[in-house]
Amino acid sequence: MKEGNKKVFRRVSVVLMLVAMMCTLIACGKENSTNTPVRETDTSQENVADKTDAPQETANAGNKENAVPDSKSDAKILIAYFSWSGNSKSEAELIQEKTGGTLFEIVREGAYPEDYTECTEVAKKEKEEDARPSIKNPPESVSEYDKIVVCYPIWWHTAPMCVGTFLEKYDLQGKTVYPVSQSASMDEDQFAESVQFVKDCAKGADVEKGLFVDADDDEAVTKYVEETILQ
Ligand SMILES: Cc1cc2nc3c(=O)[nH]c(=O)nc-3n(C[C@H](O)[C@H](O)[C@H](O)COP(=O)(O)O)c2cc1C
Repeated sequence: MKEGNKKVFRRVSVVLMLVAMMCTLIACGKENSTNTPVRETDTSQENVADKTDAPQETANAGNKENAVPDSKSDAKILIAYFSWSGNSKSEAELIQEKTGGTLFEIVREGAYPEDYTECTEVAKKEKEEDARPSIKNPPESVSEYDKIVVCYPIWWHTAPMCVGTFLEKYDLQGKTVYPVSQSASMDEDQFAESVQFVKDCAKGADVEKGLFVDADDDEAVTKYVEETILQ
C-alpha cells in the first residue's frame, strides 16, 4: 500500500472506531433510559407505599396516644336488675343486648313470696324498716365497671330495698349510675322517690336522671341506651 493510501486507511479506521464507540455509548444510553422508568416506577411505587403507610401508622399511633375513650366500645357496663314478675328483667336484657355489658340479677336471700299480696306485705315491712335484705352471690367487686345500670320495679313508691343492699355494698366513687324503672301506675313522683333512694345508696356515684318507661317500650329503652348510656 502506498504511504498516502495508508494514511487515508488509518483516518477512515479512526473515524469508524469513533463511530462504533458513539454507537455503543448511544445504545447504552438507550438501555439505561429504558431501565430508568421501570426503576422509577418501582421506586415511585415503593414511595407511594411508604407515603401511604407512614401517615397511617403515625395517625394510628396518634389516635392511640390521644385516645378519647369511645364509650361505645371502651366503657365497661354492668346491668344489675331486680325483677319479681319479669318486666324489669326484660328491660335489663334489652339493655345488655344493646350495650354488650354484663348482666347481674339481684336476688334476695330467701326469695320474696310468689303470692302477690304476701309479697306486698313483706316488701312493705322492708320499706318501713328501711331494711337491707341480704342478696345472693353479689359480685366481689364492681371496680372494673365505669357505668352501672340498675333496673327495678317501683315497690311502695320507691325501689325495692334489696336494690339498696346491692348499691351500698360497693364504693361507687367515679362511676355513673343509670336508674331504669317501670311500674303499674307509671307515677313519675314514685320514680323520682326511687331515684333519690338510688342516690342515697350509691355513695360517690354520679346518678343520672334515669329512664321511666313502660316495660314493653323497647324503642324508648333503645333510644336511652344509644343517647345516654353509650355516650
Ligand atoms: C311488692 C310490690 C309493690 C308494688 N308497689 C307499687 C307501687 O308503689 N306503685 C306502682 O305503680 N306499682 C307497684 N307495684 C307494681 C309493680 O311496680 C309492677 O307490677 C311492675 O311492673 C313489676 O315489675 P317486675 O315485673 O320487674 O317485678 C308493686 C308490686 C309489688 C309486687
